[in-house]
Amino acid sequence: MKLGIFGLGNMGTAIISGIIRGQILSHKEIWGFDTDTQKMTATKEALKIHCDDPQNVCKHSDLLILAVKPQDSHNLLREIKEYLSHQVLLSICAGISIDSIVENIGSDKKVARAMPNTPLLVGEGASCIAFNDHITQEEREFTLKILRSLGMAFEVDEKLMDAVTGLSGSGPAYVFMFIEALADGGVKAGLPRDLALSLAGQTVLGSSKLLLESGKHPGELKDMVTSPSGTTIEGVSILEKAAFRGAVMDAVYQASQRSVEMRQTHTLLS
Ligand SMILES: NC(=O)c1ccc[n+]([C@@H]2O[C@H](COP(=O)([O-])OP(=O)(O)OC[C@H]3O[C@@H](n4cnc5c(N)ncnc54)[C@H](OP(=O)(O)O)[C@@H]3O)[C@@H](O)[C@H]2O)c1
Repeated sequence: MKLGIFGLGNMGTAIISGIIRGQILSHKEIWGFDTDTQKMTATKEALKIHCDDPQNVCKHSDLLILAVKPQDSHNLLREIKEYLSHQVLLSICAGISIDSIVENIGSDKKVARAMPNTPLLVGEGASCIAFNDHITQEEREFTLKILRSLGMAFEVDEKLMDAVTGLSGSGPAYVFMFIEALADGGVKAGLPRDLALSLAGQTVLGSSKLLLESGKHPGELKDMVTSPSGTTIEGVSILEKAAFRGAVMDAVYQASQRSVEMRQTHTLLS
């Protein structure tokens, strides 16, 4: 299987780097195109992939990843429509549904839609993917293998994609805000900024790892740290009074609602 990528920006180049790093494909098996010629030249030099025009990218590829901004996706789809035959088209464009892609390229085409997140830049992404019915089991497995070379990947029903967008798509921003706030708290309590930021980042990384590797419920892990009349329960009490959990829940829900709105707008524009 060979890979073509449209859009060599943040996500496109991160995906290519992860695939090469994970030895899923070699650079010789990857084709790319970007309307920004400087970006295309830079990617060609850095990652040693083939860069060519859209027709040749389609011709050489079995899996095509659409990593352009959502507002650029419909024009690109119309442009490459005539070059599509056997390829699986995987869109990572936020808010662009499989139906709206199929409307542009034809209902007989193989289309998948994924929502990754930025930690895939360091091989720790969390992605969800939905496939249409034309994609074979072998093609599904290959596409999942590509996403799993960039972190975790789960197959879901497409109707869950707005919720996925609100949680793991937008989630890194909430986590970065939390890390920054932890560090600020450390500075307020007397720690030097650099040390506070390192401690905050590693605390979130380590806690996530402990949760995922132990399989324990987060409440159980929280209880393990909160001894009677201790320091941690004081902090937990402050977070509860500030409605921390409710605020995080609302953030995820509101982001997912915005994804619904954006999907509806893109459907109207397509
Ligand atoms: N960043 C995230 O957290 C995240 C998470 C999940 C999904 N996504 C999705 O990933 C996609 C890419 O995001 P990004 O942050 O990587 O964007 P980006 O850095 O702006 O990269 C997109 C690239 O595509 C180029 N482009 C525009 N039209 C094109 C066309 N017709 N053919 C080929 N290339 C074209 C753009 O060139 P110009 O700059 O010249 O327009 C740009 O270089 C978006 O749809 C986004 O919704 C992002």
